[in-house]
Amino acid sequence: MKALVVANWKMNPSSHAQAKRLLDASKKALEKTTGVSLIVAPPALYLREFAGSSKGKRIAFAAQNAHAALGGAHTGEISMKQVKDAKASYVIIGHAERRAAGESDDDVKAKVAAALALNLTPILCVGEASRGAQGEYFEFIGTQLRAGLKDVAQNKVAKAIIAYEPIWAIGATAAMRPRDMREMAIFIRKTIVDQHGAGAMSIRVLYGGSIEAANAAEMLAEGDVAGLLVGRASADVQQVSQLMEAIGG
Ligand code: PGA
Repeated sequence: MKALVVANWKMNPSSHAQAKRLLDASKKALEKTTGVSLIVAPPALYLREFAGSSKGKRIAFAAQNAHAALGGAHTGEISMKQVKDAKASYVIIGHAERRAAGESDDDVKAKVAAALALNLTPILCVGEASRGAQGEYFEFIGTQLRAGLKDVAQNKVAKAIIAYEPIWAIGATAAMRPRDMREMAIFIRKTIVDQHGAGAMSIRVLYGGSIEAANAAEMLAEGDVAGLLVGRASADVQQVSQLMEAIGG
């Protein structure tokens, strides 16, 4: 299985010219690898152009967010249908930064269902703000997962991707330890299988939070994950090249 790298550029870079340079550098770095599939999540206004000019087996595009409604009076939003029409095939849903801006579990649930209904692959983000000694974070993650996947039919759930991103490791100085991710990956699959049946066992789980060239390969080898959701290191020409080289295999 190829490692999945989701490049979440967030609200970067600041110009179209720089965005194109970053995309070109990412593609070049991807070409040097054999074991990586890349999903680029640029700001939405670049999606159509980038997806149109990047047809390839190992590169695909994601929106960083989209609205669950098919259309209507939602100033400033984009719909899943528009995302699909722009030739993106994935959509990140419930990123910690969107949840912090007010997105609720109910919003996330509606978005996951709306994405699947259009055959877009939802990348459902979950993650706790902090970790106490008692392991309460497991309950928190369980609740986020059950809420987000509640309206998903049993036979569709394995199409979704889960991105576990502990908020304390996003934009931080260190990633979570791979062995802690292993434990979390098992918990995530068990939670989803309990809710949706054994068919969910094959659901892909990603890790995100302070991944860079120095720690990516270890997380892939030891974290029991199908891939990585990368912020800062994906939005920098040099760092993205180093990251891909580190995991290129
Ligand atoms: P980071 O962000 O890689 O910059 O920590 C990850 C994310 O928020 O997806």
